[in-house]
Amino acid sequence: MEPHWLVIFGLALSLTSLGKTVLSSTHCDFPAIFNFGDSNSDTGGLSAAFGQAAAPHGESYFHGPAGRYCDGRLVIDFIAESLGLPYLNAYLDAVGSNFTHGANFATAGSTVRPQNTTLHQSGFSPFSLNVQWYQFNDFHRRTQVFLNKERVFHELLPKKEHFSRALYTFDIGQNDLTAGYFLNMSTDQVRAYVPDVLAQFRDIVKYIYGQGGRSFWIHNTGPVGCLPYILDRLKFTAAQVDKAGCATPFNDVAQYFNRKLKQVVVQLRKDLPRAAITYVDVYSVKYSLISQAKKHGFEESLRACCGHGGKYNYNMHLGCGGKIKVHGKEVLVGKPCKDPAAWINWDGVHYTQAANKWVFDQIVGGSFSDPPIPLKQACHRYS
Ligand SMILES: *[C@@H]1O[C@H](CO)[C@@H](O)[C@H](O)[C@H]1NC(C)=O
Ligand SMILES: *[C@@H]1O[C@H](CO)[C@@H](O)[C@H](O)[C@H]1NC(C)=O
Ligand SMILES: *[C@@H]1O[C@H](CO)[C@@H](O)[C@H](O)[C@H]1NC(C)=O
Repeated sequence: MEPHWLVIFGLALSLTSLGKTVLSSTHCDFPAIFNFGDSNSDTGGLSAAFGQAAAPHGESYFHGPAGRYCDGRLVIDFIAESLGLPYLNAYLDAVGSNFTHGANFATAGSTVRPQNTTLHQSGFSPFSLNVQWYQFNDFHRRTQVFLNKERVFHELLPKKEHFSRALYTFDIGQNDLTAGYFLNMSTDQVRAYVPDVLAQFRDIVKYIYGQGGRSFWIHNTGPVGCLPYILDRLKFTAAQVDKAGCATPFNDVAQYFNRKLKQVVVQLRKDLPRAAITYVDVYSVKYSLISQAKKHGFEESLRACCGHGGKYNYNMHLGCGGKIKVHGKEVLVGKPCKDPAAWINWDGVHYTQAANKWVFDQIVGGSFSDPPIPLKQACHRYS
């Protein structure tokens, strides 16, 4: 044997002894992303259906409204970038969309369970996860039909085989938790319906698998109790607020949801033998960011950069981008803070681009994932 063959042989042996690492070392080359979720990953869905998220949303990166509730890019944008794919167009965006590398079914205000109220009444989107599934299903079906019709669709729709090789991403659940609180339910009542929320979530993952989806990237829900729209609206007592300034009862429910979600993921891996499902602990990343903001390079942890008044620079009736009349003149509410890059919270509900980038940087390598593999390798299954 030539000496260099010995070296290679030895290397292969030592890699094999690491077991799973060997399998995971190849990149997946995801050709497309299909995303499901709420405002945390909405790249234009709610804006297409109900009117654009107004300026100054989008100002830091897109230099104008871009369908995102943020000054710039979202975690899903950084995910697309890092996989070498274009930003996802919203499925609902009829004009100018290009779905060759995926589609986004998320809309701001979406819940897993369909709500019994209208957007106008409660602020929750009619595009709940089951509806996002109907849309994906139709998108999938019509793509097969139209790819056979005219060449032009080859430049607008994903290839047939891309559906099974795509990464399916999820970030949803937060609004299911707030929905109960906004209906004045107690924490116990909210906890009691979490299993139903997760059962519906589980069904959708199974439907997508049934249609050929194999790689799933699932974010758990963030520390919602650290966001002004909860802190301001639900009036917590001092004893209910932790050192970081977050509402403990609310974060407890979010963590309860996450524990249950993790159990659902474990069960799904058993039920779907060919699925690679990555559970990503976004909660811990966001909580660490907010509770140690200074250490991570941010000046403001809780207050909204773009908002209006009060302890948190947030007013639920006068949101970022809203307008009021002062002495007969229309004035923009929530002139954003000078340096959004130093703030974590954008508008009282959503994170700034800088915070989103920070979160993405933490999760991309797999340190917060179960199994702990990088985004680029999330097509590999571990039993
Ligand atoms: C909506 O109402 C139906 C019928 O009463 C009920 O089964 C369902 O759980 C309700 N949905 C939510 C989100 O409360
Ligand atoms: C859509 O995007 C793909 C990939 O970026 C590109 O090859 C294609 O030409 C685009 N379609 C149109 C109609 O511009
Ligand atoms: C919840 O309680 C508040 C304060 O008592 C009340 O103003 C509001 O109308 C109630 N909301 C619902 C949906 O019952």
